[in-house]
Amino acid sequence: MSAPLGVYVHWPFCKSKCPYCDFNSHVRDGVEQKRWRAALLKELEHAAREAPRRRVETIFFGGGTPSLMEPATVGAVIERTKALWDTAAEVEITLEANPTSVEAGHFAALAEAGVNRVSLGVQALDPPSLRFLGREHSADEAITALEMARRHFTRTSFDLIYARPGQTVEAWAAELERALGLAGEHLSLYQLTIERGTRFFTDHARGAFTLPGEEEAAAMFELTQERLAAAGRPAYEISNHARPGAACRHNLIYWRYQDYVGVGPGAHGRFAESGGQGVTKRATRRTSGPEAWLEAVERQGHGTAETSLVTGQDLVEEALMMGLRLAEGIDRSSFAAVTGAEPVATLGEARLAPLVAAGYLEVDATHLKATAAGRQRLNALLERLIA
Ligand SMILES: C[S@@+](CC[C@H](N)C(=O)[O-])C[C@H]1O[C@@H](n2cnc3c(N)ncnc32)[C@H](O)[C@@H]1O
Ligand code: SF4
Repeated sequence: MSAPLGVYVHWPFCKSKCPYCDFNSHVRDGVEQKRWRAALLKELEHAAREAPRRRVETIFFGGGTPSLMEPATVGAVIERTKALWDTAAEVEITLEANPTSVEAGHFAALAEAGVNRVSLGVQALDPPSLRFLGREHSADEAITALEMARRHFTRTSFDLIYARPGQTVEAWAAELERALGLAGEHLSLYQLTIERGTRFFTDHARGAFTLPGEEEAAAMFELTQERLAAAGRPAYEISNHARPGAACRHNLIYWRYQDYVGVGPGAHGRFAESGGQGVTKRATRRTSGPEAWLEAVERQGHGTAETSLVTGQDLVEEALMMGLRLAEGIDRSSFAAVTGAEPVATLGEARLAPLVAAGYLEVDATHLKATAAGRQRLNALLERLIA
């Protein structure tokens, strides 16, 4: 059987730029959809030459705002993917959508094009918060979009951002209850982070708002974990919660350090090289700027800005950084197959034992995992493991 593969497709355009967002997303007056469609298909063909003979398990349209893609473009990408690779019968095809009425109007056509899972960026459920986050939709519009999404797609999820300025633990608890009333099988709940280069970064630096303190944010995280577990959608990753079996399979590919290719501006790929010697992964990154990417693809068939081989210690570090985000942790034998080294032996008893004793890590016969407390302070934990 051919090895499994995920396909990531990046659509870099949004109607407006949200002040917290540092994703590769841009506002443009007119997007030449036909030109973009042709370029995405061309780079997909290049990706199939990079990682041939695989079975595609997942396709993920991320952004930016892929719900602004013409459904015909989405359909063409799906069709070409199926023509280029063997594709699993149960292929998961996710598209990120903004919950405005215009975009909800595309849901039927997107479902027709083959999308079977939608992730909606709801972000907050009250008008002042939505305004603060610079969102173009109201809470009611988001709820209507969610209901429409349920009618058209078998699987749906939505995102919320918490630990916002002025938000108390009690206010978040109440919002979470409302969210659970609206939620289906999956929810992504992110703590607001202030990213360099965003408008929030400058606003925050000049004191325009303050974030909840560390203890309050930690209490919100813990409340989220407990409440979602009690509601049958425990965390399977730091910020992602699902009913058993309803995790996003595409994102699991990243966290389990399995293979994926990326097409579109700024997209990343990581995949075992067929015929490569020893244990290595090919890393690829496409040019970020939308226009530069488009021109490169039209000129040379792909927009690759950088490609390298990941080997040795770098493989170990990447696999740890990804796998410890998951509640299931790292499968020790899969880790050994990918990196060439068994994680417990590689990290060594001296490094692991104090972290296990402190309640941040767990090791059993098959897995190495971070506990909930470990996942809450994953960066600090990784520093201790990788140093
Ligand atoms: C690529 S964006 C979502 C796509 C879609 N354009 C949208 O905004 O609805 C992925 C998600 O990351 C989360 N996110 C982005 N920036 C964030 C930040 N600075 N802090 C917390 N969450 C963030 C948001 O919940 C967002 O929905
Ligand atoms: S959060 Fe979504 S809509 Fe807002 S700028 Fe980022 S990608 Fe675009």
